[in-house]
Amino acid sequence: MSTPGMSEPVLSVQDIDVFYGASQILFGVGLDLLQGQTMALLGRNGAGKSTTMKAIAGMAAPRKGSVRFRGQEVAGRKPYVMARQGLAYVPEDRQVFPDHSVQDNLLIAAKKGPEGQDDWSLKRVYEVFPLLEPLRSRAAGRLSGGEQQMLAIARALMGNPVVLLLDEPSEGLAPIVVARIGALLRQLRANGATVLLAEQNMHFCLGIASDAVVIDKGQIVYRDSIAGLKANQEVRRRYLAM
Ligand SMILES: Nc1ncnc2c1ncn2[C@@H]1O[C@H](COP(=O)(O)OP(=O)(O)O)[C@@H](O)[C@H]1O
Ligand SMILES: [Mg+2]
Repeated sequence: MSTPGMSEPVLSVQDIDVFYGASQILFGVGLDLLQGQTMALLGRNGAGKSTTMKAIAGMAAPRKGSVRFRGQEVAGRKPYVMARQGLAYVPEDRQVFPDHSVQDNLLIAAKKGPEGQDDWSLKRVYEVFPLLEPLRSRAAGRLSGGEQQMLAIARALMGNPVVLLLDEPSEGLAPIVVARIGALLRQLRANGATVLLAEQNMHFCLGIASDAVVIDKGQIVYRDSIAGLKANQEVRRRYLAM
């Protein structure tokens, strides 16, 4: 495998079309993610954010286009292959194992990264997610929505991923919990994590993401810094309804 250079994106999606059955959902979607970058993938409900993430994570094979990850073409690879290659995907519905304890959910996911990375241990996860430690014996199904979201992110990190895909981590959570998750993502960013963050809520992404792409009706319609997007009322009104 070739080693990506400093300037080569760690993840590069180019011109992908994705279909569910006969209906086309994504039309030539492209985005580049650099090592250490947190990018927001913004768009209204139904715009194609989750489908883009599923295409990257191996859950929806593109019919056309390219997905390059860590220097290799990976379009159409199975989800477990993508996970082994260092891609972690936290879906909208979080998918923790409800009958297993918090700690077991974390331990089940523990693995080294694709190049032997082992930055994340149970100890380190409990340092970064102090709210989870006292809940370690509780069944994951009995956690609140916010606690489950934190567990889902923590579990993804236990696999020492190279890139983390987070699908609407703020969705359906109370403002105080959203703020807590935001602080956590800022901390991950400061520690050099590489994250693609799908959100409807641009405000949540301010201070977390450096850059933004906006998706609408399955097409990327805007790319900018998050500050540029914030200043662009027209684009926000048109595509984000805010
Ligand atoms: N499994 C599916 N089968 C058919 N259509 C789907 C499926 N999942 C999503 N869609 C459709 O694809 C479009 C994009 O959905 P999605 O990627 O989930 O958007 P977002 O995550 O931005 O809300 C929507 O029109 C949605 O109805
Ligand atoms: Mg979605």
